[in-house]
Amino acid sequence: MTQPAPKTFHVKSFGCQMNVYDGERMTELLGAEGMTATAEADADLVVLNTCHIRERAVEKVYSDIGRQRRDDGTRPMIAVAGCVAQAEGAEVTARSRDVDIVVGPQAYHELPKMIARAAQGERVHDLDLPGLDKFCTYCVVPYTRGGEISRSFDAIVEEAKSLVDAGAKEITLLGQNVNAWEEGGKGLDHLIRALDAISGLSRIRYMTSHPNDMTEGLIRAHAEVEKLMPFLHLPVQSGSDRVLKAMNRKHSAHSYLAILDRVRAVRPDIALSGDFIVGFPGETEAEFEDTLSLIRNANYAQAYSFKYSPRPGTPAATMDDQIPPEVMDDRLQRLQALINEQQLAFNEARLGTRTQILLERNGKLAGQKIGKSPWLQSVHVMTNAQIGDMVTVDLVSAGPNSLAGALIDKDVNVAQTPAR
Ligand code: SAH
Ligand code: F3S
Repeated sequence: MTQPAPKTFHVKSFGCQMNVYDGERMTELLGAEGMTATAEADADLVVLNTCHIRERAVEKVYSDIGRQRRDDGTRPMIAVAGCVAQAEGAEVTARSRDVDIVVGPQAYHELPKMIARAAQGERVHDLDLPGLDKFCTYCVVPYTRGGEISRSFDAIVEEAKSLVDAGAKEITLLGQNVNAWEEGGKGLDHLIRALDAISGLSRIRYMTSHPNDMTEGLIRAHAEVEKLMPFLHLPVQSGSDRVLKAMNRKHSAHSYLAILDRVRAVRPDIALSGDFIVGFPGETEAEFEDTLSLIRNANYAQAYSFKYSPRPGTPAATMDDQIPPEVMDDRLQRLQALINEQQLAFNEARLGTRTQILLERNGKLAGQKIGKSPWLQSVHVMTNAQIGDMVTVDLVSAGPNSLAGALIDKDVNVAQTPAR
């Protein structure tokens, strides 16, 4: 139905801070179009700015849509915005005839144009996520967070300097696909080298990395930048090329192992960490065993592993041949048993090494502190040095989840991370 262009509006935000922030920006935008904010019951346009974080958010949205019908049988123009809109997409308009506009969190600057089209009787969708680079079929992150954005080089270096001024000894560059960071054609390795130049900073880390963005420059940084810790979180998810393709990962088991060869050529002791999903739709026993064999070849120092869980709105959620829970349980246990063996072997291989640990918290025993090794293992040590101090230890015993260190000296100057 055609309706007069709305003159008044009401934006109803449902939840989290990002959602409220988005709601304020929509209010500004509609105000700038000459529309007036008003109470929900009187508005010509109601924007339901949904949030996926809330439980049963989806059902709440539908009941809210229903409640917009007024006593005289009329209803306002209705726009569903936010994360539920993004995740449920076309389903929202299919389930409720009263919805005129569905707009995702990255597209609401298009709202005025969409309102004009809706007034002509069109049902309008805009769920575009500009700049989206990675789109793994199981993952909800790109739907709610949008594409890759690189914070500016200067802003990051400035922030790092002020953190070091305030006493920070270690900085971790954090982000999904952090190794895709770039500015003016310069990649993450340039940023790492800039942090390396900050005196007073002892350790640099970065996570999480995507295999497709593992550049030669970043690998070289592992050889040349002493402050860059020998740790690499490089999720592979599966060792089966068919499953990787269905996941839309755009790398193969072979290309992943080839990256590890290049990294280990310059940094043989690197602690490799990974993420795995077992029971992706259609995963056969043989394909799962391909994952185990990749793990045997790759040799992990630690890993996170998950049973596949369907996330609404993702392509994999509606794929055929979802795997029964008991099969997933069994595969997860077998995978974790193998990872635990490798983790213990990695820890044992560090025994006899003299290294530095950064103290992070108190241990259970009086006088005991727990710190992190360059390889990110927890190390227990008896010392009266303070949390935040770096101390030198000899690694004297190892378990699957931690090591024990014998204190050498708080200030003995040894090479931080002997590479071989
Ligand atoms: N950006 C990283 C991972 C981010 S999400 C990457 O690309 O590798 C963190 C981990 O959660 C993923 O690596 C994956 O192993 C797991 N994960 C994401 N979606 C999942 C789902 N639907 N079911 C089970 N595990 C999932
Ligand atoms: Fe998600 Fe990482 Fe892929 S954030 S979409 S698993 S690249």
